Amino acid sequence: MLRIAFTNLKPGTAKTTSAVWLAYAFHRRGLSVALADADPGASALEWSDQAGGFPFKVAGLPMKDFHRRADDLTADVVIGDIPQVEDHAPIARSAMRWADIRVVPVAPNPIELDRMAPMQDVLDELDDVLKPGSFTVVLLTRVVTGAASGPSARRVLERQGYDVLSTAIPRRESFAQSFGAEPDTNTAYDQLATELLQRAGK
Ligand SMILES: Nc1ncnc2c1ncn2[C@@H]1O[C@H](COP(=O)(O)OP(=O)(O)OP(=O)(O)O)[C@@H](O)[C@H]1O
Ligand SMILES: [Mg+2]
Repeated sequence: MLRIAFTNLKPGTAKTTSAVWLAYAFHRRGLSVALADADPGASALEWSDQAGGFPFKVAGLPMKDFHRRADDLTADVVIGDIPQVEDHAPIARSAMRWADIRVVPVAPNPIELDRMAPMQDVLDELDDVLKPGSFTVVLLTRVVTGAASGPSARRVLERQGYDVLSTAIPRRESFAQSFGAEPDTNTAYDQLATELLQRAGK
């Protein structure tokens, strides 16, 4: 079982979009998937409702003992859509402990990049309780193709010590408008699924 948590200090960084698109990518390659919505805002559950249900398990677990409850979900891949740490620290911390891979989605803009130093402080504070062998990676999202901001953000984050995935999610209307619908096939999220499996040694 591989546990992946989308987490960030800040709201609105493409956690839910990434969690749902990645869940579909794993499902379509034949893996069993469960999606744990830890956000009290319940956007992933709402997305599932609007889409007429996802073809995999979805559970609402906006709880500070998320790390215990989510382990009841059995699947090849369990993906957590985690609320922003700055407003929901107990739930977010619990989910960060639970994960094998913490994925921090971030756009290459100053507001989101500025919050990556305090995010590192949160991760450092939690270091003692994080699962042994678990790791944190950054996913660049909403990247404008051909602009300098993407490569520049990658350099800034790597200088801060972050492990930035080679997969980046482009900024596209097809992602922005996807809430409540079924994700497309053959997108950067398929590449993300491949890279995360490789990173996990699966
Ligand atoms: N690759 C993309 N290209 C363009 N827009 C995107 C992309 N990914 C996400 N978005 C848009 O960015 C906004 C934030 O995305 P999303 O709701 O997934 O973030 P979140 O981190 O889950 O937010 P919240 O903290 O409110 O739960 C949404 O309007 C979404 O449609
Ligand atoms: Mg969300």
